[in-house]
Amino acid sequence: MAEQEKKGLMGWIDARFPFTETMEYHVTKYYAPKNFNFWYFFGSFALLVLVNQILTGIWLTMFYNNSAEGAFASVEYIMRDVELGWLIRYMHSTGASFFFIVVYLHMFRGLMYGSYKKPRELLWIIGMVIFLLLMAEAFMGYLLPWGQMSYWGAQVIINLFGAIPFGIGDALTLWIRGDYVVSGATLNRFFALHVVALPLALVGLVFVHLVALHKVGSNNPDGIEIKKNKDENGIPVDGIPFHPYYTVKDIMGVVGLLMAFCLVIFFFPEGGGYFLEPPNFVPADSLKTPEHIAPVWYFTPFYAILRAVPNKLAGVVAMGGAIAVLFVLPWLDRNPIKSIRYRGWPFKVALALFVVAFIILGILGALPPTDAKTLLARVCTLIYFGFFAYLAFFSKWEAKFNKPEPNRVS
Ligand code: HEM
Repeated sequence: MAEQEKKGLMGWIDARFPFTETMEYHVTKYYAPKNFNFWYFFGSFALLVLVNQILTGIWLTMFYNNSAEGAFASVEYIMRDVELGWLIRYMHSTGASFFFIVVYLHMFRGLMYGSYKKPRELLWIIGMVIFLLLMAEAFMGYLLPWGQMSYWGAQVIINLFGAIPFGIGDALTLWIRGDYVVSGATLNRFFALHVVALPLALVGLVFVHLVALHKVGSNNPDGIEIKKNKDENGIPVDGIPFHPYYTVKDIMGVVGLLMAFCLVIFFFPEGGGYFLEPPNFVPADSLKTPEHIAPVWYFTPFYAILRAVPNKLAGVVAMGGAIAVLFVLPWLDRNPIKSIRYRGWPFKVALALFVVAFIILGILGALPPTDAKTLLARVCTLIYFGFFAYLAFFSKWEAKFNKPEPNRVS
């Protein structure tokens, strides 16, 4: 509750709506650890990119035509004729790639500092649901320009569901497409989901993510709970109010992010063919398959896992498993210490190998397969899953390498 009854307009509002109370709980009296570093920018960055996607998306929708006949031309119209249309479109398409860069780094921070561990398991799971929806959102958005890669990418990915046995797969692919091939019907439903349903769900989940975060409080680079050390007023001694300290710090980070964002939008809007792939500047043609079909870079690590497994159904299971295993991470890692700073070398080696394997898989997934590349993808897939197996079987054993945690954050 607000300590002092406010007068005037704020008093009137507070008597009818918990405005001051909410601001205090979430902002001015939300005590965050005082040792946040670079890695703690990415949550705020993700929020900013989400807002960017929604706003630029609304403007794109004003000029976009969601029909198989008109979609491609309407995107060209936005790029050439609509005033600043090119900027809005690039902000949205580059924004999608930035969203994944930011979210991958946000997740990596969680891995380094053990932010998924008790009491933040649910926070992590909510994050994983956001990640899943974000992938669905990006996948459906990529169909909308109705270019060759939009069309054939969707065809390949939707067909994956066909691997499910007992006729379920065929029925499911038909249900998703709404037709026997990817068609205008598919475009219409993807448009509805991309523009209305998934953004609503994402915004709702991000809200829940923050509510869960503020219930348990933020972790920090030392992985020590600041709530263990409170002063006589019940305020964590190592905590500082989110506002003004972190609002100001985050604004500084945001300036850096926006500079990088502008650099890409103005000088490399297609990200060297990785943010917008060259075949997507050719209208979709259901009779002509592009020479090499590859998803956008943020899906390629999982795509490489899919291709690394010789059997289609097993590949789909491996790809799904690569994501599913992240959901149960809080229960696989049983080392009581959270932060990498006080964990021993085995964890550091395991995490480093995991990251390298993930990046190599990302590169391989974007390239046409050869025997040597498939072999490498298999090795990296084993390392990817090996990381989780290591945590499941050795994270308790690893505790003997732990360094003593300090009592206070550094
Ligand atoms: C739209 C996507 C997302 C948004 C807007 C978002 C937003 C935020 C914000 C603002 C914070 C607090 C600031 C910070 O700690 O960086 C945070 C913390 C956190 N997020 Fe996310 N997040 C998103 C996705 C995810 C995903 C995909 C995961 C993991 C699967 C995740 C896991 C976490 C965890 C564990 C924390 C607490 C970290 C700590 O205290 O050390 N988030 N998120």
